[in-house]
Amino acid sequence: MKVDVILGLQWGDEGKGKVVDVLTPNYEIVARFQGGPNAGHTLEFEGEKYILKSIPSGIFQEGKVNIIGNGVVIDPALFRQEIEALEETGHTLTDRLYISKKAHLILPTHRLLDAASEKAMGNAKIGTTGRGIGPAYTDKISRHGLRVGDLFHNFEEKYSQAVARHKEMLDQYDFEYDLEALEKPWFEGVEKLKSFQVIESEHFINRELQNGSRVLAEGAQGSMLDIDFGSYPFVTSSSTVCAGACTGLGIAPRTIGDVYGIFKAYCTRVGSGPFPTELFDEYGQLLRDNGREYGSVTGRPRRCGWIDLVALRYTVMLNGVTKLVMMKSDVLDSFETIKTCVAYRINGKETEELPFDITEGIEPVWVELPGWKTDMTKMQSEDEFPEEFNNYLTFLEEELGVPIAIVSVGPDRAQTIIRQ
Ligand code: GDP
Ligand code: IMO
Ligand code: MG
Repeated sequence: MKVDVILGLQWGDEGKGKVVDVLTPNYEIVARFQGGPNAGHTLEFEGEKYILKSIPSGIFQEGKVNIIGNGVVIDPALFRQEIEALEETGHTLTDRLYISKKAHLILPTHRLLDAASEKAMGNAKIGTTGRGIGPAYTDKISRHGLRVGDLFHNFEEKYSQAVARHKEMLDQYDFEYDLEALEKPWFEGVEKLKSFQVIESEHFINRELQNGSRVLAEGAQGSMLDIDFGSYPFVTSSSTVCAGACTGLGIAPRTIGDVYGIFKAYCTRVGSGPFPTELFDEYGQLLRDNGREYGSVTGRPRRCGWIDLVALRYTVMLNGVTKLVMMKSDVLDSFETIKTCVAYRINGKETEELPFDITEGIEPVWVELPGWKTDMTKMQSEDEFPEEFNNYLTFLEEELGVPIAIVSVGPDRAQTIIRQ
């Protein structure tokens, strides 16, 4: 069988968690392939709301195996918090959540290094989530990282060596810290982590594929935050694109089936970095208010703007998207007119291709479409879609060259329309 991939096409928070939850009944296994607790994936159903950070979004559908793959970075302290919060609401995961031995650990000192580096950069900061993501992936790539599998062999020594290295690095910053306060919950988290099934997930997944299991790979962040192709250096430190599912789970490219590309009907971003279609006027505020655009991890207000089809065309290309999923359609319900950026004008010349540098000098070329001025939130099928809404979908499909297979009209699991 194949591995279908769900990933974000913009700057994150597109609604990946909701779509994974909706599609999980079609799969036996759901696996996260990159990122860590910088992610905040929101699921709403039956009047409850959950925000998942390290745990895959398939866990609320019964009888499914969920895997934290080798490409993920795990902070045991945050992992324990997340598990315990779920246990309190009656969701016990020990028998259906597996963790890769090769997933890297975020140490308390990684969090300190993240904070120290951001502080030192001042106004030029990345605006990270402060979860130690960059330093943990830096150690992975520089071959200093500690992995979940290391917890079982001589860990104290490896940990002390890593911390000694990190302390030397921290000494170079003007930064005060209390490591002990972070270490206690971290080591409690380690014990919790060790109570889960720690496996060689690449073998497990490939065996299951051979045996006919269907696998859904869940991405975090979005393609415009990808370490190679995103708005560098204002990106995260992992491969958020489809190829990341191969390296982050240990699956061959030929096993990839459908690639679901998730996007909002408009666009948002948190943290610093370029955003060519950002709105600073009352429409930006209306998007933030209507869409409740505040970060699910840090609570920061998200920057809001119109949909950017130059960036979307680029990320559809990078990922080989086979099915598009449009989220938060209802947020535009009250808009008279909807703007879409179809090209960039740079030094008087128009381009439809995302350039190397999108920091400055970009003037969006707009195409305006009439809004639908209809409450979409109670719609059950595409037969109910107003004409203007259908026109918006058709316009985007033509611009992006891929069908929109799913439309989301509200945060709840039930507010999802699968198109024929
Ligand atoms: P993720 O990180 O990609 O999983 O997305 P987040 O959970 O960070 O952000 C998406 C936000 O939009 C969450 O608060 C969801 O509950 C909410 N959401 C998802 N789909 C819809 C939708 O169709 N309409 C509205 N209004 N909200 C939605
Ligand atoms: P989900 O999975 C939105 C952003 C941060 C910052 C940059 C680097 O919920 O879509 P990091 O802490 O990763 O080093 O921060 O990336 N960022 C996200 N933005 N959604 C996310 O995850 C994000 N994860 C990281 O705001 O700009
Ligand atoms: Mg999110």
